[in-house]
Amino acid sequence: MMDSLVLLWVAFCLFFFLFKAQRPKNFPPGPFSLPIFGNLLQLNLENPINDLKKLRLRYGNVYSICFGSRPVVVLNGVHAVKEALVNQSVEFAGRPQDLMINHVTKNEGVVLLNHGPVWRDVRRFSLMTLRNFGLGKQSMEERILGEVSYITSHLEKCAGKSMDPQNLFHKAASNIITTVLFGTRYEHEDKFLQLFIQLFKELSKIANGPWAMIYDTFPVVRNLPLPFQKAFQKFEVLKDAVKDLISQHKMSWVPRQPRDLLDCYLDEMEKREDDSSFNESQLVTLLLDLHFAGTDTTSNTLLTTFLYLMTHPDVQERCQKEIDQVLGEKLQASFEDRHRMPYTQAMIHEAQRVANTVPLSVFHTTTKDTQLMGYDIPKGTLIIPNLSSVLNEESQWKFPHDFNPSNFLNDEGEFVKPEAFMPFSTGPRMCLGEGLARMELFLVLVTLLRHFQFIWPEDAGEPDYSTIFGATMSPKPYRMDVRLRNKRECVIQSQNTTE
Ligand code: HEM
Repeated sequence: MMDSLVLLWVAFCLFFFLFKAQRPKNFPPGPFSLPIFGNLLQLNLENPINDLKKLRLRYGNVYSICFGSRPVVVLNGVHAVKEALVNQSVEFAGRPQDLMINHVTKNEGVVLLNHGPVWRDVRRFSLMTLRNFGLGKQSMEERILGEVSYITSHLEKCAGKSMDPQNLFHKAASNIITTVLFGTRYEHEDKFLQLFIQLFKELSKIANGPWAMIYDTFPVVRNLPLPFQKAFQKFEVLKDAVKDLISQHKMSWVPRQPRDLLDCYLDEMEKREDDSSFNESQLVTLLLDLHFAGTDTTSNTLLTTFLYLMTHPDVQERCQKEIDQVLGEKLQASFEDRHRMPYTQAMIHEAQRVANTVPLSVFHTTTKDTQLMGYDIPKGTLIIPNLSSVLNEESQWKFPHDFNPSNFLNDEGEFVKPEAFMPFSTGPRMCLGEGLARMELFLVLVTLLRHFQFIWPEDAGEPDYSTIFGATMSPKPYRMDVRLRNKRECVIQSQNTTE
């Protein structure tokens, strides 16, 4: 009996030491981790934000956890995030290369490309094109305003009733990015748009779910016929749809007269015949990447904004007053108008802060052995910039736990942007769609607030501000009452105020 117990104990110790996650020497501290699972069982994987917050209280702004046997460093608070992503920008600008999503996308596109010349080239091309230097005659602003007019006419039909805005915003955000990428907008009932959105949703669910975690943690299971194989199949269907689109586009493409980002890419491919950064396979994944990165993020931010505007009618009214005053009888808002709308600007930034849309950023890795705040971090370490911890950091905000545009206003009522405002992250990998997203948010919100009043339905009970965690965070589904504002009255009111 005693012999068996001793044997069992030895076996247990052996198992423990063989499979225990090893933190490197002088690595950031963190909780005790179990063999095989690391700290995964100690985190609420449905929404780990609160667990990460507790670990920060215990271990400080730079700590580590283990995903299986893989040590991961979590950065918290504005100083640690800036120290890594800005002051040591190259060292912290890598992306993991061995997760399920890397294998699905074959490390093409831009979001998941590792730091290096190909990423730099593709990022520069995408940024230049999105900055309107390459989009031909129709400006980015016109493209956005075109879609805004569809949202407005849809909401006009809903006036006097309550509606669920989720689909409307999602399809509008998707259409804005497809007009920029392919020069095409789709009717909201269009089969192609619906297939695209559905496949992205399913792919994202698998990529952020437990099966992806199992794939990433236990390499031996990767070839087994388990549910994560569906991610590979769905991505192939998406790629085939985009390949068709590219073939159709090529038929009407006139070199050096670009209509959209796809045309610009074809021009670039022609210019750089032998350049491995620019080829058709890379183009397919780049288009999918940009579409994916630009849809959920923007639509979830809009959803959060309307939730808070409805439940803070005083803030809504103050924005409307300012918008009426500045726009007067002008037919459409322009992005330039933002400089004369400090309160509305502050409201939009505050909505982005509370929306916390990409709470854990996109994971980074270290590109070489480095040091951070006295700790040693080896090359290839997975880094999680916890943006949520920055956007809610008590020492950085006047009202960290409320929805209050004053977080972005100084004593003179002017718009100011604190350094802890980083919903787009920071450093060389920061969101490359920031300009587009900011223009979209401004033009959509200003136009809708000018035309409509949004009211929390009387029978909807207490508003629920809790969020659904994912690669992008969203509010729980809700309905909103839409009322037409009396435009004539708005104009007269704004004239009276200016007089
Ligand atoms: C409110 C809307 C948006 C938010 C909050 C947001 C946020 C983010 C964040 C946090 C990252 C990770 C940065 C990092 O790794 O440090 C990111 C990356 C990225 N975003 Fe956005 N994003 C938004 C809209 C868009 C749009 C409209 C596009 C489309 C053009 C876009 C394209 C990208 C791309 C391509 C990357 C990867 C950049 C790289 O790896 O170099 N995003 N975004």
